[in-house]
Amino acid sequence: MTTALRLAPSILSADFARLGEEVRAIEAAGADLVHFDVMDNHYVPNLTIGPLVCEAIRPHVSIPIDVHLMVEPVDALIPLFAKAGANLITFHPEASRHVDRTLQLIRDHGCKAGIVLNPATPLDWMDHVMDRLDIVLLMSVNPGFGGQRFIDATLPKLREARRRIDAYTGETGRAIWLEVDGGVKSDNIGAIVAAGADTCVAGSAVFGAPDPDGGYRGVMKTLRSSARP
Ligand code: DX5
Ligand code: ZN
Repeated sequence: MTTALRLAPSILSADFARLGEEVRAIEAAGADLVHFDVMDNHYVPNLTIGPLVCEAIRPHVSIPIDVHLMVEPVDALIPLFAKAGANLITFHPEASRHVDRTLQLIRDHGCKAGIVLNPATPLDWMDHVMDRLDIVLLMSVNPGFGGQRFIDATLPKLREARRRIDAYTGETGRAIWLEVDGGVKSDNIGAIVAAGADTCVAGSAVFGAPDPDGGYRGVMKTLRSSARP
């Protein structure tokens, strides 16, 4: 793979009382994206943050904000997040009645678009929307909570997703990012990247291991070096 690994710390595990400082610290530590987990107590059994919080952190960072929508229905939130400064928006396709339309809607609002596939959701959801995808996110835990254990069956699924994306890129010349979310740690990130991921979310691994000064340079460096073959 030619692209350098992108690391996307999930602020789900950050200190919400100091969110501005936390996102500044991950950018200073070399994060490529801010992963922003939106849960609605309907699609998933948990409730987190919405467009107002996205708007509040936007001025604190210059890196892209990667909004992961765990909500149902999906479409009404897209313009709100785009306006709040999101750069990438991904959603779970089984939570949208019209997946192709939702993907178009995200791009129409100036953001990169992607689908998120749960551990038991087949890759076939990609089949007829490849041209509309900028990113495919494979969940390596069931969505809803940080700090869960990585599901190993994600590795063969990643290899197959990588194969399909590379075939598509070979035909069209257009790249699609392959992101993994859930249970990513320094002891499994090497295998995850070797299986084909180019973008890794890490929540508890990053925010659970601050440097003595409250920064995250140490853990980000460890994740990057552990990802190398
Ligand atoms: C789970 C979220 C993840 C989660 C990752 O529903 O989508 O982004 O916060 O956290 P860790 O890295 O702790 O599994
Ligand atoms: Zn997420």
